[in-house]
Amino acid sequence: METYRQTFSVKRLWQILAISLLLSFSILLFFGSKIYQQAPPIPEAFKTPAGDVIYTRSDIETGQNIWQSTGGMQQGSIWGHGGYLAPDWTADWLHRESLALLSLISKSELVGLPASEEQQLEMHKVTLRHEMRKNTYDEQTGIVTLTTDRAQAIKNVEQHYINLYTAKTEQSLKLRKDYAFPLNSVLDDQKARQLSAFFFWSSWAAVTTRPGDDVSYTSNWPHEPLVGNTPSASILMWSLISILLLLAGIGTIVWYYARQFDAWRADQIPETGFAQQDVVATATITPSMRATAKYFWVVTALFLAQVLLGIVTAHYAVEGQGLYGLPLIDYLPYAVTRTWHTQLAVLWIATAWLATGLYVAPMISGHEPKFQHFGVNFLFFSLLIIVVGSFAGEWLAVHGFIDNLAINFWFGHQGYEYIDLGRRANALKSFSK
Ligand code: HEM
Repeated sequence: METYRQTFSVKRLWQILAISLLLSFSILLFFGSKIYQQAPPIPEAFKTPAGDVIYTRSDIETGQNIWQSTGGMQQGSIWGHGGYLAPDWTADWLHRESLALLSLISKSELVGLPASEEQQLEMHKVTLRHEMRKNTYDEQTGIVTLTTDRAQAIKNVEQHYINLYTAKTEQSLKLRKDYAFPLNSVLDDQKARQLSAFFFWSSWAAVTTRPGDDVSYTSNWPHEPLVGNTPSASILMWSLISILLLLAGIGTIVWYYARQFDAWRADQIPETGFAQQDVVATATITPSMRATAKYFWVVTALFLAQVLLGIVTAHYAVEGQGLYGLPLIDYLPYAVTRTWHTQLAVLWIATAWLATGLYVAPMISGHEPKFQHFGVNFLFFSLLIIVVGSFAGEWLAVHGFIDNLAINFWFGHQGYEYIDLGRRANALKSFSK
C-alpha cells in the first residue's frame, strides 16, 4: 500500500491542483456561457394586436434598477432567489395575472357546447394555459404581441402593485405591514409602474415556452399549476441524479480515506519528532502584528452586530413591524437588517482571515518589511470606510433618500444579496483614471 508521502508527493499535489482548477473552471465557463446564451430575452416592447404599447424594454430595465434600490433580493425574491418574508414577486405576479385573465376569459361564451359550470371552468383554464404559455416573441423586431384580454389582466395586476408601492389604499397599507416594508418610503406612480414592468417580465419569462421546447424559459419555475408551471420529468430526473452523485462522491472519499487510514497513520508522526517549543508563544510581536489587534476588536463587534441583526430580522417574520413592540421599522426596516445581516457574514469572516494573515506573515517569515505597520493601519481604515460607507448607503437607499438610480448603483443598494454594497470602489477607480 502506498504511503501518504507517495500518494501526495509535492509533484502530485501540483497535478491535483492543476486538474482541479482546469476542471472546475471549464465547468464554470461552460455553464456560464450556456446561461448567457439561453437567458430569456428582454423584448423591445410588449404590445397588443392593435399596436398599443404595454411595456418597453426601458420600462423593464429601469424597473429592475428601482427594485434594486428598494433592497432588491432582501425585500422579497425573484425567480425564488432572495428573502422570503415578502412574496416571490415572480410567483405573486404570475398568480395574480393568471386569476385576472381567467376571470376575463370566463366572461366569454362557449358557443354550442352544453357544459356544466365546472366543465366550462376547466375549458377556460385550458384557454388560459394556452394563452399564457404561447411564445409570441418576434426575434426580428423584438416585439411580443399579447391579446387584449391579457393586456387588461396586466393592467389590473399593475394597479395592485402601484397601490402597494405608493401606499395609497387601506389594503395596500395592511400588505406593506405584512411584508415588513419600510412604512415611510413610497414610490411615485411612474416608478411603481416601471417596477411592475420588471415584475411582469420576470413572470412572462417564467411561463412563456422556450422556443423548440415544452418548458418555460425558467424550466417552469416558480410553481403555478394553473398555467402548467409544474416540474418537468427531466427536472425530477436530474435532481435525483445530482443527489445520488453527491452521495456517491462523499461515499467514495470516505471509503478511500478509511482504506488508506492505517497506511497513512504512520506518517502522522514528524520525522524529526514533535516540536519542543510553542512557536506562537515565543514569537516576537512586531509593530505591524500588534496593529492587527484592532481588526480583531472589529471582528468581535461585527459578529455581535450580526447576531443582534439576526434576532431583529427573525422578529420581523413574526411581528412584521419590529422587536417586542418597539417600532424599529421606522429606522431599521427588514430590508436593511437583512442586508446588513447577510453582508456582515462576509465582512467579519473576511476581516478575520485578513487580520490572521497579517499577523502570521511576519511571525513565520521572521521579517518585518518596511512600511508594513503603515500598510496594516492603512488597510484597516480603508476597510472601515467600506463597511461604514456601504451600510450608510444601503440605509439611505432603502429609505428612498437616493432618488437618482445611477447614484444608487454606485453608492446605494445594488440589491443582489451578499454584494449589496454600491460599486463605489469601482467608481473611485474610474474617477482616478
Ligand atoms: C443568533 C444568531 C442569528 C440569528 C437569530 C439569525 C437569523 C437569521 C434569519 C431570521 C435569517 C433569514 C432572513 C430571511 O430570509 O427572512 C437569516 C439569514 C441568514 N443568516 Fe443569520 N442569524 C444568526 C446568525 C448568523 C451567523 C453567525 C451567520 C454567518 C456566519 C449568519 C448568516 C446568515 C445568512 C448567510 C443568511 C441568508 C441565508 C439565505 O437567505 O440564503 N447568520 N439569519
